[in-house]
Amino acid sequence: MNQEPLLIALLMISMPTGWLSAQDVTDGFAPEMSSGVSERTLQTANDYLVAAANPLAAQAGNDILARGGNAIDAMVTTQLVLGLVEPQSSGLGGGAFMVYYDAADDKLTTFDGRETAPFAATPTLFQNDNGEKLGFFDAVVGGLSVGTPGTVKLIFDTHQAHGTLDWASLLQPAIDLAENGFAVSERLHTLIANDQKRLMTHPDTKAYFFGDDGEAHAVGHVLVNQAYADTLKALASGGADAFYEGPIAEAIVDKVNNASNPGVLALADLSNYTIKEREPLCVSYREHDVCGMGPPSSGALTVGQILGILEPYPLDELGPDSARSWRLIGDASRLAFADRGRYMADSDYVPMPTEGLISKTYLTERSKLLDGQTALESVSAGEPEWDHAMLWADDESLELTSTSHFSIVDTEGNAVSMTTTIENGFGSRLMSGGFLLNNELTDFSFSTHNDGVPIANRVEPGKRPRSSMSPTIVMKDGKPYMVVGSPGGSRIIGYVAKTIIAHLDWGMNIQEAINMPHAVNRFGTYDLEEGTGATDLQDELEAVGYEVNIRALNSGLHGIVIGEESLMGGADPRREGVALGQ
Ligand code: GLY
Repeated sequence: MNQEPLLIALLMISMPTGWLSAQDVTDGFAPEMSSGVSERTLQTANDYLVAAANPLAAQAGNDILARGGNAIDAMVTTQLVLGLVEPQSSGLGGGAFMVYYDAADDKLTTFDGRETAPFAATPTLFQNDNGEKLGFFDAVVGGLSVGTPGTVKLIFDTHQAHGTLDWASLLQPAIDLAENGFAVSERLHTLIANDQKRLMTHPDTKAYFFGDDGEAHAVGHVLVNQAYADTLKALASGGADAFYEGPIAEAIVDKVNNASNPGVLALADLSNYTIKEREPLCVSYREHDVCGMGPPSSGALTVGQILGILEPYPLDELGPDSARSWRLIGDASRLAFADRGRYMADSDYVPMPTEGLISKTYLTERSKLLDGQTALESVSAGEPEWDHAMLWADDESLELTSTSHFSIVDTEGNAVSMTTTIENGFGSRLMSGGFLLNNELTDFSFSTHNDGVPIANRVEPGKRPRSSMSPTIVMKDGKPYMVVGSPGGSRIIGYVAKTIIAHLDWGMNIQEAINMPHAVNRFGTYDLEEGTGATDLQDELEAVGYEVNIRALNSGLHGIVIGEESLMGGADPRREGVALGQ
């Protein structure tokens, strides 16, 4: 493996930019830093670029592009290596959304590889016999939360349609790494140690992540995963069918149904699983089109609503140090989250006012609510135009941080923006075939109704749980300009919106935009990133009426800007990833 670009990326030192410096960001995140990487700088490239959450995955994707593969080929390998070296975040047992620009066809499209609820799932899946909601982790750990995985079908089907290199050869780097072992990173070690109690509840998981002494594998421990290599070898020869039918599928179903907290996944759920190609959902902002994944993700709709509500306000003049900018951003986000909680779910199952939510008329009306000088006292869902009379109650899903995002641009100008997940860190904590199984079903509402009114995002058989994942491609004059996304539960939406604003309104390059300390508001409380200059906003935000909470905000933004002369990539210093290119 050619390590040179990786070493160059690790050696570069970024330049501070006032209170928004990369150093600000790293100060609060020492435990998350790994691979010796404590800072990031803008990575430029002429031909291709990969920005991903782990250096081994970014390098593997680069190697595929260096071999002449395209962005889809590199996507396959990057995902499979991520699933091995960052098993807590994404993998074969999970689901993903991909926004894809195909240069030859000049076409932007999206692929939905979201997990589905098993056919035997009922709306009260996460309630006890008395109709009471289960505690979050009581629902997460074990088989109950496991949805039908979508990632394998997503990477296989899109490779069949758009890839160029031989499928099996794209799996080989991850097979080699699994057989030879990889060094446990500081981040992985820390996360295993922090989750010891839950990971130890299932013997296979315990055996993989802990030594015979019961300790989390140390940083640098060479972790071999022969089961993962064997699964990939089966996929190399049998394609996605080898996953969705036969011994791998049977082992997954057996694991889910015989876990301590058994689920209802069946072989028919796997054999019937399909990915869905969907129209991208685009909202115009500052002469760009911000495009992403529509329902079942709330990502593109909510990011688009935030930007659309902000469009009339001069954020460029106000700048990033202004508390007024953050009042506007915070309340635009609260308004968008109110609509998200009321209306957004899997639109294959529930009617949704998708067009109404992003119509200029509606967003302009919502913008006017921000005309005052102080934070909105209360926020509720609006009334977008909709020819469908229906009442939904507000949702109450709990989404904690996890997930991974990578961005790829290749020599031909194809672009991939992919956010990929097993939901909670380490998912359901169940392992099968060398990979962790997701707990994506807990992205559904645990309640079915609120005061007798149904909740759009309730569990239903075959339905896809609402997501916040926001893989984005910003288009300019009909061509891709910015490729970006992040993990982070429902804060993903704020991280992505902020990065777009920092670049388009405030002129930061993609790395500076990613580095910029976070200030995120979803439901009223303003979260400010601890240990960073964002906390300087506390007094002014409290003065205009917000409650402020200073906390870690562990995004994992990975993005690329396609300049006229070169590609520019950025990786989030809050995690262990890099941007690498040629
Ligand atoms: N499970 C994270 C998301 O879909 O938003």
